[in-house]
Amino acid sequence: MEQAVLVLIKPDAIQRKLTGAVLARLESLDVKLIGAKAVRVDHALAEEHYTRLRGKPFFDDMIRYLCGELHGVEFVVALVFWGEEAIRQIRHVAGATNPEAAAPGTIRGAYGCLTSGGRMENVLHASSDESEAKREIALWFRPEELLIQLP
Ligand code: TYD
Repeated sequence: MEQAVLVLIKPDAIQRKLTGAVLARLESLDVKLIGAKAVRVDHALAEEHYTRLRGKPFFDDMIRYLCGELHGVEFVVALVFWGEEAIRQIRHVAGATNPEAAAPGTIRGAYGCLTSGGRMENVLHASSDESEAKREIALWFRPEELLIQLP
């Protein structure tokens, strides 16, 4: 089943100039890039993006992280990919949420880190399932910014 997935290249990756490396890994998959832009993230957008995690002990720190406040960067790179099992393909190459647990061959295993304070700096976000992907894509992109019209 073909599906869309939102990917965010997070501020730790932007600061460390890993955008190209992350894109190269994603480009090697059997998925098509149908949307891409640099986005300045304010707290309202970050909180809406992670709305299902409101109330978690790491929430406030994670919002500051996504807004770039912890890395001194002003944007994230937002991408939409389309393809057969795109969510599974991309989450597989992204690796486990916790970079310490992510396999070495994955993006998070290669480039992510767990800070001494316990924050997961895990390089990228990828939608967890199809309904989250739809919600997230509508939050980050206008339909006319995508190369195909999504179902
Ligand atoms: P989650 O949606 O569970 O994972 P994923 O990004 O792999 O879909 O969590 C969202 C983000 O929250 C995750 O990328 C990093 C952060 N996070 C923490 O900082 N600590 C935690 O214990 C968890 C579960 C997540």
